[in-house]
Amino acid sequence: MKKVVVLGTGGTIAGKASHASDNIGYTAAQVGVAQLLADVAGMPALLAGRLLESEQVAQVDSKDMSFAVWQSLLQRVHAHLQADDVQAVVITHGTDTLEETAYFLQAVLPADLINAKPVVLTAAMRPASSLAPDGPQNLLDAVAVALTPGAHGVVAVCAGAVHTAMDVQKIHTYRLDAFSSGDAGPLGYVEEGQLRVLRNWPLAPSDKAYIAIKNIANDNRWPRVEIVMNYVGGSAAVVNALLRPAPGVDPLRGLVVAATGNGTMHEDLEAALRRAQVQGVQVVRATRCASGRVVSGAHAEFEDANGLSPVKARVALMLALMSS
Ligand code: SIN
Repeated sequence: MKKVVVLGTGGTIAGKASHASDNIGYTAAQVGVAQLLADVAGMPALLAGRLLESEQVAQVDSKDMSFAVWQSLLQRVHAHLQADDVQAVVITHGTDTLEETAYFLQAVLPADLINAKPVVLTAAMRPASSLAPDGPQNLLDAVAVALTPGAHGVVAVCAGAVHTAMDVQKIHTYRLDAFSSGDAGPLGYVEEGQLRVLRNWPLAPSDKAYIAIKNIANDNRWPRVEIVMNYVGGSAAVVNALLRPAPGVDPLRGLVVAATGNGTMHEDLEAALRRAQVQGVQVVRATRCASGRVVSGAHAEFEDANGLSPVKARVALMLALMSS
C-alpha cells in the first residue's frame, strides 16, 4: 500500500504561546510532527485507508534554517521518494524561509523522482496553540495535494493556494494568506479536499547544473554568497567590506545584487561589483521588486538571475559554485 510521509522541520505551525489569544508572542518549533498530524480532524477520511508516516527531521524556527538541516532534509526526502511504497512527501516548515527550502529541493532532487512524485511544503502563520490555528487546515490541504493523481514537483500549500517552488514568495508578515506566486499565479486552489488545478505541475529545470546529492551532503562548507541591495545613497561600502578578508570567515565567492527596478543600481555600487567580479567573485543581478523580472539586454555585464528573487538567486548561485 502506498504511503504519504510527513517530515517535520519546525516553524510556527509547530509553535506554542502561553495564551491561546496570542498569535505573535509564541516560540516556534515546539510541537512534534506526529502530534501535529494527530491534531488534524478529517485526516483519516482524506487518507481513505492509506498509510501516513511521520518523521522529525529538525525542530527549528526557519529564520535559523541551516545548510546542515537542508542536508538532512534532502537526504530524507530523497530516500523516501526512492521508495516504491511512498506516494508523496509532505514537509512542515516555517513560513519565513520556506521559499528558499522549496527552491533548493526543486533544484537538487533528481529529475526522475521529482517529475514523478510530489514534495509538498506547508506552514502556518499562527501557532498550534492559537484559538484558531491555520496549521491543521494547511496540513490537511497539503496531504490532499500530495494525494492528487498526477501531482509532482516541489510545491507549497498555504491558505488554500498551491504555489510552485519557482514562484512561491512570502509577501505578508501577518495575514494567513501570506504567500504569492507573483505574476505566474498559483498552480491551483484546494477546495474541501479537492485540488482545482490552474496550470501545469512543475518539472525539474532541464538546464540545471546537476549536483550529486552526495556532494551536497558531504560539503559542510557551502560557498559563501551574500546579497547586497541598491537603495538611495547606495555606495561601494558594503561590497568593499564583504571583499575584505576576515578571520574565521570564508572568502566571498558570489554576490547577488537586489537591484532597483529593472536591474538598475547606483554607479558607485555598480563599480564596486565590477571590481568584485575582476577579483573572481561571481555577480548575479536580481531585482528588489516583488514582482516581475529583470528584462535584461542592456545589463549583460552581470549574470541574470533569470527571474529568481534575490534569496533564490543566492541559492542557485551557491549550487552553481558547488558544481563548478
Ligand atoms: C518560522 O519561519 O519558523 C517562524 C515563522 C512562521 O513559521 O511563520
